[in-house]
Amino acid sequence: MRCKYIASYESRVRTLYRVLSKIYGLMDLIVFPNKKANPRKGLANQIPDEQVRVLDVCCGTGNSTIAIGKKNINNTVIGIDLSRDMLKVARNKAIKNKITNTSFIEIMQLNWIFQVAALILLLFHLHFMKCPKN
Ligand SMILES: C[S@@+](CC[C@H](N)C(=O)[O-])C[C@H]1O[C@@H](n2cnc3c(N)ncnc32)[C@H](O)[C@@H]1O
Repeated sequence: MRCKYIASYESRVRTLYRVLSKIYGLMDLIVFPNKKANPRKGLANQIPDEQVRVLDVCCGTGNSTIAIGKKNINNTVIGIDLSRDMLKVARNKAIKNKITNTSFIEIMQLNWIFQVAALILLLFHLHFMKCPKN
């Protein structure tokens, strides 16, 4: 049985990012006005352009995911997120930019991830946690 606290958290995050997804693109314009000095580009530069898979957890509208995919054509970049609305924006952005080495997956479809990773100590591990006994 899924934990009610987590279900409520997910619902609130989804609601919040449903709204924010409409204006989230503004964030990079405001926070990183200098396109050349955008830290997402710096991040992409840190990753070797080799045949490796990159997982962007909580990818949002895919700003980093796409920056990596665009710079490193040999990477396979996967963005995962809780918010369908943020992912929709991300997918549209990838299509618009003709980026074919990135994909975006909703986190609830990701049970398989635990088959390939022993432990992922990130926020999203909470989704798979059993409800603590009171
Ligand atoms: C501030 S945005 C950051 C997006 C992106 N990493 C960026 O750099 O622009 C946070 C994102 O985390 C996602 N998120 C929050 N809690 C999450 C969880 N438990 N599992 C997956 N995604 C989550 C939200 O849906 C949202 O898209």
